[in-house]
Amino acid sequence: MAKKPRADGNPNIVKLWPTTMLVKRFAHFQKVNPALLELFYQHRDREQRNPEQAYASKDDLQNHYPLHQELGELAEFISKGIVEVATEANRGLWRQGEKVSVTLTGLWFQISNGFSFHEMHVHGNCSWSGVYYVQAGDCSTSPESHRGKQPNGVTRFYGPHMEHMAGGFGDYGNLYLHDNSWDSYPEDGKLCIFPSHIKHMPFPYNGDKDRVIVSFHAQVFNSSGSMSYDYSFNN
Ligand SMILES: [Fe+2]
Repeated sequence: MAKKPRADGNPNIVKLWPTTMLVKRFAHFQKVNPALLELFYQHRDREQRNPEQAYASKDDLQNHYPLHQELGELAEFISKGIVEVATEANRGLWRQGEKVSVTLTGLWFQISNGFSFHEMHVHGNCSWSGVYYVQAGDCSTSPESHRGKQPNGVTRFYGPHMEHMAGGFGDYGNLYLHDNSWDSYPEDGKLCIFPSHIKHMPFPYNGDKDRVIVSFHAQVFNSSGSMSYDYSFNN
């Protein structure tokens, strides 16, 4: 097992259990996103949903359009991003040079407007999840852009410390527990991948343009096709 990382400068301190996330922009988003928007609105309109309502497709989008070029390009970009972040999170644990493969167990899109949102949640039966912003619309762009007001359409992530806030004791000694959330500001072409167990919530969104995202979750296998631990919880 890898040695636990120590804080710089003080050999008596051990810092444990950071949360690893990946944020990067898709280099081809200006080509891919318009094609995705066309596909998504066609898909939604075939179901004759009320365009005023928030819409979420079923989570097997990749099976509906296996030959759609831009959706395939996005899925590849997402899969590479999952390998990148999982490699970093498992540094010192994965065997050196081992090839891993990613299975996107769910891929779906959401179109939102009219102050729609989802309650706080986590994703199950997967190790990594994420959001790709196809159209940020009028989402807040920075903390300054919504100062004094609720952010618009921002994705908020809650760290493990959140568990200890309710009814917890707060003083200057545990000020670090208050640093328990992080906001992803939507931008066209921005990808954000996070551990699936991390709680998150999109703030209500309202704007002239719809907020359009792709969501996904994934499992990661090693070269033998196994995703299980080297040890058993039953031993
Ligand atoms: Fe989610």
